[in-house]
Amino acid sequence: MSIFEKVEPFPPDPIFGLATRFKKDKNPNKIDLTVGIFRDENLATHTLRSVKEGEKVLEKIEKDKLYLPMGGDEAFIHEAQKLAFGEAFCKSAKGTLFGAQTIGGTGGLRLGGEFLAREVTKKVYLSDPTWPNHRGIFEACGMEIETYPYYNKEIHALDFERMLDTLSHAPEKSVVVLHGCCHNPTGCDPNDAQWKELSTLFLKKKLVPFFDFAYQGFGRGLDQDAWAIRYFASQGHEMLVAASYSKNFGLYGERIGCLSIIAKNEQLSQNLSSVVKRLARVNYSNPPRHGAGIITTILQDVGLVEMWKGEVDQMRERITLMKNDLVDALGRQFGKDKFGFLKRRYGLFSMLGISAEQVDRMIDEYGVYLTRSGRINLTGLNEGNLPYVIEAIIKTKG
Ligand SMILES: Cc1ncc(COP(=O)(O)O)c(C=O)c1O
Repeated sequence: MSIFEKVEPFPPDPIFGLATRFKKDKNPNKIDLTVGIFRDENLATHTLRSVKEGEKVLEKIEKDKLYLPMGGDEAFIHEAQKLAFGEAFCKSAKGTLFGAQTIGGTGGLRLGGEFLAREVTKKVYLSDPTWPNHRGIFEACGMEIETYPYYNKEIHALDFERMLDTLSHAPEKSVVVLHGCCHNPTGCDPNDAQWKELSTLFLKKKLVPFFDFAYQGFGRGLDQDAWAIRYFASQGHEMLVAASYSKNFGLYGERIGCLSIIAKNEQLSQNLSSVVKRLARVNYSNPPRHGAGIITTILQDVGLVEMWKGEVDQMRERITLMKNDLVDALGRQFGKDKFGFLKRRYGLFSMLGISAEQVDRMIDEYGVYLTRSGRINLTGLNEGNLPYVIEAIIKTKG
């Protein structure tokens, strides 16, 4: 009798599970629109040129491979925070803005969640729908999950009034996870006026904003995508931001992110900093060096930073191009209005607004893989495969 006799297998991850199924699929026409990685027009994935150049510089200047401090590389954190909050805010924040280097965006959410569960509250509100891993992460932190209405599937629009209503009834100090830009899976973000209303509500009801910031640069631009975070910061919120550099630096496997926490004063910031570092210490001790080294090298080098910004622009332009091509192609088949809402979506993902049953048929009969929410990664499309995807949508329509 094994000690593992009673271990029940976990159901496959909704996104990575599909990727595994895709790999095994023998259909020569199969198309992967699932996992959130950027693909170029040949559907290939590349290391960014700025990253390759940054690595060359890093190799010359890196003296050793010693441990980083528990909270990570200070120079990296400084650069990461300038990117998220803007230089002026970082200067003015003095000792109230804490940062820790994290194991990707996921690690930032987890570290922030563990800190909040221990020190602030166990109540967390997630958007409905959201990136499926949010629930798992915050549950693993021992938090109690609530959801707030976010997206009206019938009219393909933000469910703003219901969102406000639910959050206005949330208990004080509840944590509310917000997607800083490029909401995953819907691609539907609040507009500036709506962000302002949310900020006012959060201050009035003493809610804790926790921004998940995984797609900076993929929506409207590096600065524009940080608008909501910078606005909240300027309004004096005590808040958290978990930024990921997996997508915008293409450093997926290097596992690099940054958790920032703004506190009311320096003393509070120092106190919470010691707790967060302790949580890191007992989990993985200190974060990995390489991704932080690459990003710091790029962001501190005038030439490399320009190269990187250009590459982010190119990635965003490709997303926009595929979105427009998709909307035009769908418009020719179904009329301009039916899928017109997709034009107002930002980032790698959009939700097509099709049923889970139709998704199943698209996968089974056409080998076109997307998540059951009807979410697609727009960069899984190119000129060559778009007609086939459109055909799959038409033929599987109930
Ligand atoms: C909304 C959202 N948050 C966080 C992450 C996590 O990013 P990372 O791979 O850096 O952990 C992702 C990745 O897909 C995401 O889509």
